Amino acid sequence: MTAPLNNAAIETLAASPAVRRWTAGGQAPDSANAAGIARAIEQALAAVDRNLAHFGDKFPEPSSVASVYPAMDNSEWTNGFWTGMLWLAYELTGAQRYRDAAEVHVRSFHQRQLERHNVNHHDLGFLYSLSCVSAYKLTGSAVAAEAAMGAARLLLERHNARTGIIQAWGDLNDPAQSGRMIIDCNLNLPLLYWASDYSGETAFRDAANQHIEAAARHIVRPDGSTFHTFFFDTATGKPREGKTHQGYADDSCWARGQAWGISGFPLVYRHNGDTRLIALSKVLANYYLNRLPEDGICYWDLIFTEGAQERDSSAAAIAACGLLELAKNLPLLDPLRASYEAAALGMVQELSARYVNTEGQPGGGLLKHAVYHKPHGIGVDESCIWGDYFYLEALVRLTRTWEPYW
Ligand code: GLY
Repeated sequence: MTAPLNNAAIETLAASPAVRRWTAGGQAPDSANAAGIARAIEQALAAVDRNLAHFGDKFPEPSSVASVYPAMDNSEWTNGFWTGMLWLAYELTGAQRYRDAAEVHVRSFHQRQLERHNVNHHDLGFLYSLSCVSAYKLTGSAVAAEAAMGAARLLLERHNARTGIIQAWGDLNDPAQSGRMIIDCNLNLPLLYWASDYSGETAFRDAANQHIEAAARHIVRPDGSTFHTFFFDTATGKPREGKTHQGYADDSCWARGQAWGISGFPLVYRHNGDTRLIALSKVLANYYLNRLPEDGICYWDLIFTEGAQERDSSAAAIAACGLLELAKNLPLLDPLRASYEAAALGMVQELSARYVNTEGQPGGGLLKHAVYHKPHGIGVDESCIWGDYFYLEALVRLTRTWEPYW
């Protein structure tokens, strides 16, 4: 097992001057950038309208088939992304139709946690931050707050006191799954902090703090890359080993995992104020930015930097949001702040120029060329609903000071 990064090593990697210089975007005049972003938002909202008419009270499946999402009920880890897009559209336009549709979803999410329907996993944060914490923040809805609190209690059940981590997947007694944490969980933790703030109960916050500490110590490798998943011994609480699940190899760096880390550490910093998480996000961002192909849109695993492998546009959209969240927490004089902002803008411009689906099919994905699970052959070179969500979130972040749902 590799030794965790110590504070001095984090500071050195975080200050790496070798961040890729961004030439694709960020150099056009601000007015040209603003007009391009406004056009991209118009295009994204047209897709949201088309899919609102198409899906009604149903949800898009996690990934598309031939660029079109099949419809499904509220039973996947991904259903909150579509509701989150409706809330973003509501914030952008103030149009009641988005709010009405999102409020129908809120009732569905309320029911889902009451019935414990497919909630046996840690992705309750993805589900309920975007559907219900958002609703509570934007409208003060009591039912949304109750649903989000119910989901946070289910998530807290997955916290293991001996290891300090939140078990990612499966039954808590399943020996193959107990003791497994994954980098994606960084985005599930804000639900726990919200629950502590809302209820005054500190148990949620304490669990989240323990989990992020374990992620910082064991998921981040000494070179600034990340494991996708990491196992602890639940009998002793001791760290065991890192493995991949959706990446190319145990010792490669799954691109979306790295993007979850870049964005998740500063989102947790918002809630616990631990400045080391900002330094860690820089470490991960520097590793990521230095392993991009010419157009700046990552391959599905960062072991690939050229060739015929698939890109993961969804990871690029997540990374863009993460870089913007990171940059806003850096001092104005930090030499990397402007680099991260330019990289985020450049990625979003590239996505809108060459990765957006312009075919206009009902149920069509917004961003093409994402990868869900390459080793299992699921959603490869398709749209993924979280990619669509984060692309829209990035567009919102580029146009206003936005209060995250996270
Ligand atoms: N959180 C699961 C994924 O990114 O595919």
